[in-house]
Amino acid sequence: MRIPARLNFAHLPTRIEPLPRLSAHLGGAELYIKRDDQTGLAFGGNKTRKLEFLVAEAQAQGAKTLISAGAGQSNHCRQVAAASARYGFACTLILTGDEPKRPSANLLLDKLFGAQIIWVADRANRDCVLQETYTRSQAHGEKPYLVPYGGSSPTGALGYVFGMEELMKQGFHPDWIVFGTSSGGTHAGLTVGKELFTYKGQVLGISIDEDEAWLKTHVKALALKTAALLNEKDRVKDAEILANDAYCQAGYGVLTDLEREAIHLFAKYEGILLDPVYTGRAAGGMIDLIRTRFFKADEKVLFWHTGGTPSLFADKYSAEGI
Ligand SMILES: Cc1ncc(COP(=O)(O)O)c(C=O)c1O
Repeated sequence: MRIPARLNFAHLPTRIEPLPRLSAHLGGAELYIKRDDQTGLAFGGNKTRKLEFLVAEAQAQGAKTLISAGAGQSNHCRQVAAASARYGFACTLILTGDEPKRPSANLLLDKLFGAQIIWVADRANRDCVLQETYTRSQAHGEKPYLVPYGGSSPTGALGYVFGMEELMKQGFHPDWIVFGTSSGGTHAGLTVGKELFTYKGQVLGISIDEDEAWLKTHVKALALKTAALLNEKDRVKDAEILANDAYCQAGYGVLTDLEREAIHLFAKYEGILLDPVYTGRAAGGMIDLIRTRFFKADEKVLFWHTGGTPSLFADKYSAEGI
């Protein structure tokens, strides 16, 4: 295996904790959680592992500016801004939506880290503005590095290949790993890690906003490219991608009773915070799969917490009432 350059700023290994009170309340599978909401770098989350590889790649290319894009409350962008501050890059973020009068949550933090923000009204124009911003920055000699959406390039996905290695080294072998999947980097990384580090259970992504067919194709392609970076493509070519898109019909970032209930149950039974967009939805799906007996009562299910907790404090969600 050839391992690309990596920085070491994540707080690893993240803890695995049992969820006894929530498991008893739900009366189904035995639940555990892996605390990637505590990976460090500005409140943690799944981008920390990805950014260890992405920032190393940017440094190796001699970049001076990190450019990325996402939703107005993007967790990814908040962590890119924090990594820029920490490693001395300038940072430009292209965010979708209308600029709020008062920044809150992730957006407040983006500004605190000194990121320059460019707003685009709708997602359809985002790629185009991102590309223009990159080209302009290059022309001005700012040496930009484009951090892909959600950090989900093969380089970023390496973070979760080694996340799986970490889990195996912790000696914990759940029957299922469940997490929220969107741009697919976490999913692809765990899939590659499953093959390389011989995890025998199942890796199930609960879709946040994409349909199952798209996820299966996209994650498989990303997994193969990620494995190729490690010179291990052959060991991943038959990997199966499991994705469930039953819980994302309301649309990205739309808070429904599914997310609300999951947030309340994790808070009340375990003192653990979920976010309204990603982990609330993924946990809501997992809870439904426990209630409908998709998971057997004697199975161990690991909820891989992917972070996002700052969004709990976004004005949008306080106004809607979490
Ligand atoms: C908190 C959180 N969980 C899950 C995801 C989805 O991860 P991925 O983009 O690797 O599919 C994201 C992506 O932004 C996120 O912020």
